[in-house]
Amino acid sequence: MDPTETGAVIAHRYRVRCLLGAGGMADVVAADDLETGETVAVKLLREPLEGTAMDRRVMQELLAAARVSHPNLVPIADFGIAVESRRLFIVMELLVGEDLAGVLHRRGRVEPGWILPLFCEALDGLDEVHRSGIVHKDIKPANLFLDRKSPERPRLRVTDFGIARHTQRASITQTGAFACTPRYAAPEYIVDGEATPASDVYQMALVLAESLFGWAMVAGGPVFDVMNAHLRGQLRLPPGLFTSPIGKVLARALSRDPVHRFSSAREFAAVLRGIDPEAAAAAIELHGAMYRRDLVSMPMPLEGSVVAF
Ligand SMILES: Nc1ncnc2c1ncn2[C@@H]1O[C@H](COP(=O)(O)OP(=O)(O)OP(=O)(O)O)[C@@H](O)[C@H]1O
Ligand SMILES: [Mg+2]
Repeated sequence: MDPTETGAVIAHRYRVRCLLGAGGMADVVAADDLETGETVAVKLLREPLEGTAMDRRVMQELLAAARVSHPNLVPIADFGIAVESRRLFIVMELLVGEDLAGVLHRRGRVEPGWILPLFCEALDGLDEVHRSGIVHKDIKPANLFLDRKSPERPRLRVTDFGIARHTQRASITQTGAFACTPRYAAPEYIVDGEATPASDVYQMALVLAESLFGWAMVAGGPVFDVMNAHLRGQLRLPPGLFTSPIGKVLARALSRDPVHRFSSAREFAAVLRGIDPEAAAAAIELHGAMYRRDLVSMPMPLEGSVVAF
């Protein structure tokens, strides 16, 4: 039986209710925990594990991830290898809401006054992840979940930390394989597969800028072009923005050299908290509108979130 099918039981414990969604390497289902009676989310990686040294490292990282706790994280409640399918499963709280990719797809862009406080909290959560020795590596809008369980107090929660390592079988230079989406890859990760908390800061800043402007900082297209844009610092940020406080913060977090970025996610959050959302909105409106005209007249193909124009 397909382990994602309704009624299938994963690891003798989680009975599948329905498929919630599928990403590049996993399926996510809602399931009833037969021990506690709770409904949870179970992520099932598609590729079966082989019991190699690499897989032991995957387990160690997941164990470390399961110990991290913060209201802006989605903690791992349980994980293991499903006896039936040999697939790695990860059990999490079942979230109510939508991931940021969905939000941006619907709304195009979001107001600084709305996103900045939520984003700073998510950075605090990410900082906890870093303190436990884990680098996320795969931050992108789809891995930031807007939890609307209490509608009056939405939270932006970081998902999938401690999981990216599973996809990184060897360095990119050996295999061409990426543990993250190229569109959100930090330059140093592209060059030598080196990911640090500073790489996560870069990825978070890409997501923030995309949320504020409504278009991705790097256009889609051939992977080579996408990687080149990160390596050359050719991000789709309006140059005029850099004179404004929000522009300066983004420019620092998006420095090509990780040494010039904020020293931690917490510092990034602290500086962002000093930004006046109204002034940021005015700067984005002014410089964004001019830049958007240039973007549209550019010969390169525009796609992804830019379709929202
Ligand atoms: N804990 C959860 N509760 C509810 N929905 C979830 C949960 N975790 C993930 N999802 C949803 O399941 C879908 C698949 O998530 P998944 O993490 O596999 O894909 P992704 O992050 O889009 O891509 P990738 O595989 O590249 O990480 C997404 O729509 C996501 O929002
Ligand atoms: Mg995900």
